[in-house]
Amino acid sequence: MPEEKKKERAGEKVETRTYTFQVFRFDPDKGDGSSHREYKLDVARGTTVLDALIRIKEEQDNTLSFRYSCRMGVCGSCGMFVNGLPVLGCQTQVYDLDGDVVEVKPLPNYDVMRDIACDQMSMFEKHKSVKPYILRKDTKELDNARGEYTQTPENLDWIYQFTYCIKCGLCLSACPTAASDSEFAGPQALAQAYRYIKDMRDEGAKERVDIVDNSHGCWRCHFASSCSQVCPKGVDPALAIQLLKREVILHRLWLRRQGKGSELMPKKIKDAKRKEDVPDAPEKTV
Ligand code: SF4
Ligand code: SF4
Ligand code: FES
Repeated sequence: MPEEKKKERAGEKVETRTYTFQVFRFDPDKGDGSSHREYKLDVARGTTVLDALIRIKEEQDNTLSFRYSCRMGVCGSCGMFVNGLPVLGCQTQVYDLDGDVVEVKPLPNYDVMRDIACDQMSMFEKHKSVKPYILRKDTKELDNARGEYTQTPENLDWIYQFTYCIKCGLCLSACPTAASDSEFAGPQALAQAYRYIKDMRDEGAKERVDIVDNSHGCWRCHFASSCSQVCPKGVDPALAIQLLKREVILHRLWLRRQGKGSELMPKKIKDAKRKEDVPDAPEKTV
C-alpha cells in the first residue's frame, strides 16, 4: 500500500498517495512496436484511473491517447485493461487497487489504434448483425408509425437486465472464445439478440435465430462466464446466451413459433386513474 502524504490544495490539507502508472504506448505512425512508459502521480482519494490518465496527459505527456466521454459509467467509451482486468476507467478508483503500481493497457481482443484506444468496430458490426431493434413482419408499420406498441410490465421485467448494456465491449475483451475465434458473435451481440427475441413488441425472432444458430454463434459459447464477471452494468450476458440457446432449440423443434407482436397502445387506457400529484406530460416535440 503506498504511503499517504499530506498536500495543500486550495488552502486545505489533502491526503495523497504516490502511484506509478505503467502505461502501454503504441504509435501506428512509427510502426516500431509497442512499449510502456512510466508516470508518477500523487493521487487523492476519489481519483479514478481515467482522472489519473487525464492528469498525466495535462501535466506530463500530452501525446498520451485514450478514449472517454461521460466520465460517469454511461457512455461505455473508456474501457481499458487495468492490472489485468477489463474495466471502465471512470468507474475504477485508484485507491481500490492493490499495490502502488497501476498497469494500464488497451482492451484485449481488439486491434489497438493508439496507446490505450482500441478499434471496437468489430463489436459494433456484430451488434448490428443481430438486428438490435424492433422488427415487424409488416415493415410499413414502422415507416408509418401511429403510436407505441404495448409492453406488459412482466415482459419488461424479463428483458430489463439485458437492456442495460452500454456497449462498452468489456465482455468481449474478457471472453476466451472471442480470443480464439475472431468471428465469434460475442457476448454483447448474443445477449442483445436474446433481449430482442423476447421483446413482446418484436416479430423478428425467427430471423435472429437463423443469425445466431451457427458455428460462430451461440453454440460457440462454453459458459465460462468471464463476460458476466466484468460487465459493469450487471447485464449477465452469459445467462442471456444460455437462454438464447434454449430459444434456438425451441424454435428448431417447432415448439416455439413466431408470435404476433403486441398491438398499438390504446390512445386512452381504460379505467386508468392518474395520481393527483403527477404533472401533465410536456407537449410532443417530434
Ligand atoms: S454486456 Fe456489459 S460488458 Fe458487455 S458491452 Fe454490454 S455493458 Fe459492456
Ligand atoms: S460465457 Fe460465453 S460469451 Fe461469456 S466469456 Fe464465456 S464463452 Fe465468452
Ligand atoms: S467515460 Fe463514459 S463510461 Fe467511462
